[in-house]
Amino acid sequence: MTSKYLRQEFLSFFEKRGHKIVPSSSLLPSDPSVLFTTAGMQQFKPYYLGEKSPYGSNVVSCQKCFRTSDVEEVGDESHLTFLEMLGNFSFGGYFKEEAIKSAYDFLFKELKLPLAEAVFTVFEGNENVPEDKESVEIWKKLGVPEDKIQKKGKEDNFWGPTGEEGPCGPTTEIHLKGIEVWNLVFNEYYQDKNKKLTPLSQRGVDTGMGLERLAMIAQGGNSVFETDLFSPIINEITGENEKAKRIIADHVKGSIFLIQEGVLPSNVERGYVLRRVLRRAIRYGKLLNLPKNFLIPLAQKAIEIYNDIYPELRSNESDIVTVIQNEEEKFEKTLEDGLKQFEKGLDAFELYTTYGFPLELTIELAKEKGIKIDVEGFNKKFKEHQEISRAGAEKKFVGGLADHSEKTIKYHTAAHLMLAALREVLGPEIYQKGSNITAERLRFDFNYPQKLSEEQIRKVEELVNQKIKEDLAVNCQEMTLKEAKEKGAMGVFEEKYGEKVKVYSIGEFSKEICGGPHVKMTSELGNFKITKEESSGAGIRRIRAVLE
Ligand code: SER
Repeated sequence: MTSKYLRQEFLSFFEKRGHKIVPSSSLLPSDPSVLFTTAGMQQFKPYYLGEKSPYGSNVVSCQKCFRTSDVEEVGDESHLTFLEMLGNFSFGGYFKEEAIKSAYDFLFKELKLPLAEAVFTVFEGNENVPEDKESVEIWKKLGVPEDKIQKKGKEDNFWGPTGEEGPCGPTTEIHLKGIEVWNLVFNEYYQDKNKKLTPLSQRGVDTGMGLERLAMIAQGGNSVFETDLFSPIINEITGENEKAKRIIADHVKGSIFLIQEGVLPSNVERGYVLRRVLRRAIRYGKLLNLPKNFLIPLAQKAIEIYNDIYPELRSNESDIVTVIQNEEEKFEKTLEDGLKQFEKGLDAFELYTTYGFPLELTIELAKEKGIKIDVEGFNKKFKEHQEISRAGAEKKFVGGLADHSEKTIKYHTAAHLMLAALREVLGPEIYQKGSNITAERLRFDFNYPQKLSEEQIRKVEELVNQKIKEDLAVNCQEMTLKEAKEKGAMGVFEEKYGEKVKVYSIGEFSKEICGGPHVKMTSELGNFKITKEESSGAGIRRIRAVLE
């Protein structure tokens, strides 16, 4: 059973059962509290809350998803960054009985997958949500023996919401070969921003089945990489390290889809995620001794796999390839610099934080040169570093600095000083609207209705330089978001912060919620100079500045 067949069968199976086929929505959702589309239900969120669905109450889709939360797990049997999610949905139409029966019919009657190997899970209940006895009865009625039905807690069998609030509910899952293949969510609750559950006036169904996992089972593979959705890419990669090959294949695929949707590598938000997966793929390529530009033929293979399903990839192939090639060249340069430092004796941990060298790569390099790496020392420092920068899943991609090179870190601290200076010179209503930091310069957007006068610019510059000269200490403290606000810390992307945040203070001058890292003392910055001040949209000004 090819993946193409499975995708089509799924859609027509549910179409025959009264569902309207709805095309996949973009990977970049409009909900500002989530970076990417991670589930099929996202585009239907309002219909669970009572808004009238233009498609009727039952729909089916094959949704492109991108999950940053799983990036570290890619390489095992079942986790991926990019995946296609098959799902049937009902907004106040059918509920548990029909949803479970349809899932059963599709897998075990239509596709004839081995029922005897399947395991089913249901929600065991907790203080807020009762045990899902109904689903157990429905499975039993279909002939599933009781010992194949497992009761699980909230971690496993309660889903949602996506983003900060929304519909959610208990789930029942179908597992095959020990892998969760299909998740059936019964949306009965609304979870608000304070995590409070309220019953929805209309009940809904939201199911999700990863096409790659289904293909793995249907095609008899032992991992999602042993399917027609991956083998053409994997087969192009030479080398023994299976995990490295899987990571490269996943990341190159994720990248082409992100680039296709208009994401470009950068140091913030979506662009950072793209940069991270591309660079990670390149590093694993180095581990396998793959030649320069090895990603390009792999990207072309990935495009080929999806030729008839997403023809837009093919029509944008040359642009996609150019973006990948440019990023590879930029990263090569960083790696070369890092390599020189390595030869000069920089330790494994510094190579990691400053140049993004993963430990495995450093070990390989050291082996070639007959040097021994202090792995224990690395792990210890890594743990400390992780504890500081731990922000959890998607959250770690915002509010901090992506590139941890020394120069870049200086600019990051300079950005904090500049915001504080702007507030002092222009007024406390000034907020940061965005920033972009490279090792060469700082670009900073903030709200202000008109062009800054020469005098204002000079004052901001002087104030920042004065604070640099004062050699203020930069301190970091972890606290809850509430405490941070009470202390008057500035923040930019409030809705995306985790429960605990880091607050960086620079003397008494600046206090900002931020992921870091920063320099220790402001004197490290040198001289600060504003090189340009211009408009960046209605009511927004943009400043470029350099450190000399
Ligand atoms: N929303 C659920 C999931 O993504 C089911 O579609 O797993």
